[in-house]
Amino acid sequence: TMAFAGSAQAQTYPTRPVTMIVPFAAGGPTDIIARIVADHMSKTLGQQLVIENVAGAGGTTGITRAVTAAPDGYTIAMGHLGTFSAAPATYPGLKYDPINGMQTIGLAGGTPILIVARKNFEPKDLKEFVTYVKANSEKVNEAHAGLGSVSWTTCTLLKAQLGVPKINAVAYRGTGPALNDLVSGQIDFMCDQIVSVSEQVKAGNIKAYAIASKQRSPALPNVPTTAEAGLPEYQIEAWNGIAAPKGLPKDVVDRLVAALDKALNDEGTKKRLLELGTVLPTAEERTPAGFAALIKRDADKLSPALSAAPK
Ligand code: MLT
Repeated sequence: TMAFAGSAQAQTYPTRPVTMIVPFAAGGPTDIIARIVADHMSKTLGQQLVIENVAGAGGTTGITRAVTAAPDGYTIAMGHLGTFSAAPATYPGLKYDPINGMQTIGLAGGTPILIVARKNFEPKDLKEFVTYVKANSEKVNEAHAGLGSVSWTTCTLLKAQLGVPKINAVAYRGTGPALNDLVSGQIDFMCDQIVSVSEQVKAGNIKAYAIASKQRSPALPNVPTTAEAGLPEYQIEAWNGIAAPKGLPKDVVDRLVAALDKALNDEGTKKRLLELGTVLPTAEERTPAGFAALIKRDADKLSPALSAAPK
């Protein structure tokens, strides 16, 4: 019968490669985490997860494409705090609803936020940075990955706290390309997720003033927390996670959830993620409901400040 054919087909999912949309340029945190996790998920699913970088509009272009695709499991996306929790308050005409209009799969990783700068930027530490940026707000520039992205969101909160909301901000298609310009010295500073900047900080190609978390990261033990460095009110935790179109068959959801969980339990995958500073998700955060709760919690937390932010 048709019903039988339908379930037999779902049981063999996936029978062809799965596209995982990364809504930013290659080399940024979303791309890095997607590639690490997809690598192992491909083994479990027995089909390639093909990363497709669909950048633009702070990641909302790629997420729109992913969550409005056919709900068949062949198009999924790696999004983050920006695309899933910040974008609704940033884009009044957003074409997707992260709370009611998509199928969450699970959190892939927590990504602490660092305030980083070009290596020759004058301020030596976070206190000097605060003083300098306030005194030179007409002159300094900041990079971000588009309105609603994590870099934009987190630096928007920082600038609001410092009382310099209008610092010149340069938009990129991802913080991967922004990081290149930070390394080459064209950009003064940015707020970025640890996974893309930790290696450049260790190599001395850029400097990190502070990590906006409660604790230092084992990946960058010498970088002080914002509390230690004199700006305790600036704390924010970012993250990356997987979503799919609403209406995905339950067994397809289960397979994707199980493949993500298995990837996050794999020693080699864990090592790669941890070395870059990723925080491994809890068991609850790896479930569709746990991830959905996180998205909602952060959307509620961020939306007042982001609705009011200059755009
Ligand atoms: C962001 O700023 O939202 C991300 O860092 C963008 C990216 O992954 O490139």
